[in-house]
Amino acid sequence: MAEVVVVADQDAAGALVAGAIVSLIRSKPDAVLGLATGSTPLATYRALAARIASDGLDVRGVRGFALDEYVGLPAGHPESYRAVITREVVEPLGLTPELVRVPNGDPAGIEHAGADYEAAITTAGGIDLQILGIGRTGHIGFNEPGSSLASLTRVKTLTEPTRVDNARFFDSPDEVPMHCITQGIGTILRARHLVLLAFGEAKAHAVAAAVEGPVSANQPGSAIQLHPHTTVIVDESAASQL
Ligand code: GLP
Repeated sequence: MAEVVVVADQDAAGALVAGAIVSLIRSKPDAVLGLATGSTPLATYRALAARIASDGLDVRGVRGFALDEYVGLPAGHPESYRAVITREVVEPLGLTPELVRVPNGDPAGIEHAGADYEAAITTAGGIDLQILGIGRTGHIGFNEPGSSLASLTRVKTLTEPTRVDNARFFDSPDEVPMHCITQGIGTILRARHLVLLAFGEAKAHAVAAAVEGPVSANQPGSAIQLHPHTTVIVDESAASQL
């Protein structure tokens, strides 16, 4: 059973998670962080950047692996997850860019990209702490309903609700890519600590299904119940169906 912490707001969640990550980095200066994109973790990244600055913490050895990436966006597109991770995480936290990986969404060589990413995570010794958001459809990373609970990093087709949700980051809905490359649910479950964040009423159903529903490929978030160390941090609205 996941530990569920209900907090007042995203800033309170950010302070909690930042504290956990700072402790991790103090005990392991080359800690491996699993990084989510989307709007959910942004307050956490801001809180972490502030803690690193105020504590004067040396994070140059910290490593990172993003959960997912779009396939086929032009190099340097501002909404590629590579660009988002650089802008929201690497730069504000002062991480070493070469130590932070994002799955390679370039269609050239895409057939090797999943296996290459898995190998890189294994070589790094695995992910110590994985930050997760959850989609309205219950997806974690970009593992949409129907994804195998044992899946590893691979190319997936985005569902229409997810493309609609993510259209807000693009000039038009048609610009949202059709495909992505995402860590699998099996990849996520190998991380040593999962921290799932969710805020707002729109996530209440997905949170309840993840925390209390049957473990099912139809609700990818429910895979967190298979993990021995999961912390779910939600506000009152996201907790409203628990
Ligand atoms: C996105 C990302 C996920 C994220 C989820 C929720 O599409 N691929 O990693 O957790 O959907 O997004 P948001 O946090 O913006 O609600």
